[in-house]
Amino acid sequence: MKKRLLAALLAVLLTSAHGQRNELSIIPQPASIALGEGVFTLPREISVITVKNDELKKIAGRLAAQLSSATGYTVNTSEGNTATSGSVFLSLVTDPMTSKEGYQLKVTANGVSLTAADPSGIFYGVQTLLQLLPREIVGKPAAKKNEWAIPVVTIDDRPRFGWRGLMLDVARHFFTKDQVKEYIDEMVKYKFNLLHLHLTDDQGWRIEIKSLPKLTEVGAWRADKTGTFGRFSPPLPDEPKTYGGFYTQDDIKEIVQYAKDRFINILPEIDVPGHSLAAIAAYPELTSTPGKYAVNSGEQLMVWPGSGQHFYGLIDNALCPAKENVYQFLDKVFTEIAQLFPFEYIHMGGDETARNFWEKSDAIKGLMKKEKLKDLNEVQSYFVKRVEKIINSKEKKLIGWDEILDGGLAPNAAVMSWRGMKGGIEAARQGHEVVMSPTDFVYIDYMQGDAIIEPPVYATLRLKKAYQFEPVPDGVNPLLIKGGQANLWTEQVYNTRHLQYMTWPRAFAIAEALWSPKEKRDWNNFSARVERHFERLDAAQVKYAPSIYDPIFEFSKKDTATIIVKMSTEIEGLSIHYSFDNSFPDQFYPKYTSSLTVPKDAVAMKVITYRDSKPIGRMIVMPIAEMRKRAGIK
Ligand code: ACM
Repeated sequence: MKKRLLAALLAVLLTSAHGQRNELSIIPQPASIALGEGVFTLPREISVITVKNDELKKIAGRLAAQLSSATGYTVNTSEGNTATSGSVFLSLVTDPMTSKEGYQLKVTANGVSLTAADPSGIFYGVQTLLQLLPREIVGKPAAKKNEWAIPVVTIDDRPRFGWRGLMLDVARHFFTKDQVKEYIDEMVKYKFNLLHLHLTDDQGWRIEIKSLPKLTEVGAWRADKTGTFGRFSPPLPDEPKTYGGFYTQDDIKEIVQYAKDRFINILPEIDVPGHSLAAIAAYPELTSTPGKYAVNSGEQLMVWPGSGQHFYGLIDNALCPAKENVYQFLDKVFTEIAQLFPFEYIHMGGDETARNFWEKSDAIKGLMKKEKLKDLNEVQSYFVKRVEKIINSKEKKLIGWDEILDGGLAPNAAVMSWRGMKGGIEAARQGHEVVMSPTDFVYIDYMQGDAIIEPPVYATLRLKKAYQFEPVPDGVNPLLIKGGQANLWTEQVYNTRHLQYMTWPRAFAIAEALWSPKEKRDWNNFSARVERHFERLDAAQVKYAPSIYDPIFEFSKKDTATIIVKMSTEIEGLSIHYSFDNSFPDQFYPKYTSSLTVPKDAVAMKVITYRDSKPIGRMIVMPIAEMRKRAGIK
């Protein structure tokens, strides 16, 4: 009985949207939370006190600015070695047991004390503190509240992994310096510490390289097309190249500094030898196939025949591994990249290199003979090893997509495993460092709900599946798994609102997989916290996908022509209402309880979910033709 009461109480705490005690809604879930009694109410004059440390001073300054703009209270910052009554005190401790990014946050009725071994820990403790405050703390525009209370609590916290990344593709669609900064602002709230910028691809070269000016004069610009990327009309010779942009080196310095102040490393990716059409448009001599090239504007470029056949390119978008000028080019590029980005790794891409033009190249045949390379995997491996030498010569380490394993891994390379976990497992077996970013759990360019309502992409990754991401496979040395990251490719992402929609809430799941103790993973508890964070995103005017509220459909056939529908939901507590008569269902329409037979003359099924008598899912219209197709009825 006692247990049931406790569970009910917990449920109230978890679901009370407007309660002050929203302390159980921290994402990612901290390692340990000891909840006390009562609250600390912010005084109308707040002191943020830090021990003497430049980084803490910056953190305190930003915290003070946020507290003061949200509350309208006076907030002072000062230096000192002790907390005063009612203050927020940030201090560093030398404790060899404390992990670098860990922290202890103590809230009493008298104030807040945050300690860590490193300023980054203080920074993450501040993120937790902000999540303990009412959601209006992130409100836009600032909302007036009579009282700002923080629950009394002690939180001891530390990350599970040191590499907690998001990858942003700024090549397919360009996002400005300020938009990248906004993305950083959003990701640090959830304790990500790495932003991987995919800076180059067939559709654009996005970083100024001073010794190779045509990369941005030519490579950063393309025809402006809107619709379904990858299926655009064929290019015309006179199309104006009006879409694009790039970061100047000053922009990059500004982004890197902005990121550093927020404990984010920036991993730059220059994707070679494939995905290089923008560079080739600027310098056609880099490819194996002589010709005139243009930056791709989203027309079909590659063919994926499926059924085990190798993909091929319609245009040669790969650098030629047999040409010395290619390595001279890469030396120039990586010299400047290494000077701009302080992070220890440079990402060389290496994924999805079409081989059909390499197969035809006499220069490559000559290289194979000279270097005794028996196939094109070994040709790619030869290329990667040479690139590694260049990158190592700039005092940087190479990381690449898991194709760099093909034909033999370069001696010091780290692998980013994207085609599932197997590349990562193999690299770790060979003693190499690994970052896990498998499509099946962390590809946040995929749809997050049913294709009938989501903007179309070729695959789906629901929040619940993302929440199952486990970066350390059985039998692998965990010390070689540096962490993981979610990847946001932007072929179908045209603007920042949609960038947010694709990122949230799935990045919550990835953040938790990378930060929180594995044994704390709990879907029901997490999904309840996600909903509280939707309220925070609403307050902050950040867009997110509400797909967890929409049903999951399963269609099958009975006899040869009858469609059977099964529906379920990703989260608990929703009721599904439906119609087959073309009208819009509401909560008084039939409620789905078990599988349905679609009436034979129905034109469409319409479906919506409700919770507590309120519509919560989106109105979904499923046409009969779509149901027939999915049921396998010809
Ligand atoms: C990739 O998704 N092509 C790395």
